[in-house]
Amino acid sequence: MRIGVLGAGTWGMALARLFCISGHSIQVWSALPEEIETLSQTRRHKNLTNMIIPDDIEFTQDIGEVCSNKGMLIFAVPSVFVRSTSKLAAPYVNKEQLIVDVAKGIELASFMTMSEVIKSEIPNATVVALSGPTHAEEVARDLPTTIVAANENIEVAEKVQSILSNPVLRVYTNSDIRGVELCGALKNIIALAVGITAGLGYGDNTKAAIITRGLAEIERLGVGMGCRHETFAGLAGVGDLIVTATSKLSRNNRCGYLIGQGYSVSDAVKQVGMVVEGINALPAAIAMSERYNVEMPIIRAVDNVINKEEKPNDVVKGLMERDGKTELPKPLLDLRYESISTKHATSGLEGDHSMKRVITYGTFDLLHYGHINLLRRAKALGDYLIVAISSDEFNWNDKHKKCYFSYEQRKALVEAIRYVDLVIPEESWAQKRSDMHEYKIDTFVMGDDWKGKFDFLKDEGVEVVYLPRTPEISSSQIKRDLYDANAIEGKSKTSHEEIDTDPQ
Ligand SMILES: NC(=O)c1ccc[n+]([C@@H]2O[C@H](COP(=O)([O-])OP(=O)(O)OC[C@H]3O[C@@H](n4cnc5c(N)ncnc54)[C@H](O)[C@@H]3O)[C@@H](O)[C@H]2O)c1
Repeated sequence: MRIGVLGAGTWGMALARLFCISGHSIQVWSALPEEIETLSQTRRHKNLTNMIIPDDIEFTQDIGEVCSNKGMLIFAVPSVFVRSTSKLAAPYVNKEQLIVDVAKGIELASFMTMSEVIKSEIPNATVVALSGPTHAEEVARDLPTTIVAANENIEVAEKVQSILSNPVLRVYTNSDIRGVELCGALKNIIALAVGITAGLGYGDNTKAAIITRGLAEIERLGVGMGCRHETFAGLAGVGDLIVTATSKLSRNNRCGYLIGQGYSVSDAVKQVGMVVEGINALPAAIAMSERYNVEMPIIRAVDNVINKEEKPNDVVKGLMERDGKTELPKPLLDLRYESISTKHATSGLEGDHSMKRVITYGTFDLLHYGHINLLRRAKALGDYLIVAISSDEFNWNDKHKKCYFSYEQRKALVEAIRYVDLVIPEESWAQKRSDMHEYKIDTFVMGDDWKGKFDFLKDEGVEVVYLPRTPEISSSQIKRDLYDANAIEGKSKTSHEEIDTDPQ
């Protein structure tokens, strides 16, 4: 395939050579004319001194030329230049071309990932993020390397996988592009933290602690944003974190090490001599942790050292003396639900479409197939299902109904159903209106024997759905059968209210 590489830095040139020797036709562009001249004349890159640039690689200073007649464009400029480069390329890109972004970072002003930045400048572009544990220096020596091609459409990711895989580079796919890109941007900050502690003279225990707990906080944020848990355990997640945080080749790690040794931040960056993307990613990471209400103590500690001139030693002491925590995270959906709810609460926004919340109400006594079938169908209407179960007092005082099981017993049974994410008590008829707002409900569900009775909730901005009852099963029938079998003492007949107060 004819491939254009935009950016002639360390990574751009290592990839250009690899894809050239694996049979593709490569043209490289750089924004720096002197760089193009040096590279095309010397056939050497200053950071990859042993790598020979094949004669077949063409160079150009013309961005229109590098974008023309190519099936794929690889964006390999540092993240701070991705927007300006996309703007320059936009007039020449057509929608049949695959764009592959290899820059890792988050734009401060917009919190956009790099693929989002490219799409905002080139609206019809198909952008795949290519990220993973990949030092250019090792790829330049043909050392076996793995990477992830990510796009919401897995078929697009598979296309890039089949084009770019070769004996040196094994490409995996992932449809969680946001998670993949978030890992790539935030791992640089954790690498800075590891470097700082090494510079302070701390050992492998500290390094392992920062990598493990650093990944935990990146994952907490990612899941709050709707990314997939598995991505953080994959190559772009823990894989890239290991390589960046433990290798001497990592510029973020090196920069942190110098800071830990007592260099000022600006002197450390100067010594490293390349863009230190962890430092650039810090403001966006801090702002995102606030926006999604996610605790990120290590990233905040690095920010305190880099941007607030706190002493690394004091910051580590502060981290060690925090309140005790558990390693076991909350269920992922709960985390996501909470972060979205908090975002709503602080922004006053209604109707966040990244998570659809469904609610249903009922007694759920003698839990049976009809109930579970209702809950299954209710859950299928969204992402997060809340079940409001009538409390014992409400049942008795307002519904005039005797339950077989107590509220706590009924709650425990309903919580055991995998479709149910949260159980809350129903203590009055009137609470439904306020529940719609408190729990940011999108869809209200009841059995169709209640048809029309809750349409007034549409005024609260929710969708009201009445689902057909499951035939041939009802709580009332079970109670009647139990009564007939003398299993239940008390009432001689089951009232109609008892039939009605279950949703199915
Ligand atoms: N180096 C690696 O091992 C590696 C591996 C994976 C991903 N990445 C990612 O790839 C991206 C590039 O990293 P790198 O190591 O090649 O960085 P680098 O510092 O080597 O890149 C510098 C290059 O940026 C380009 N550039 C400079 N000014 C520019 C401008 N104004 N506009 C456009 N381009 C300009 C030039 O081609 C210059 O050579 C980064 O986002 C990095 O995170 C790097």
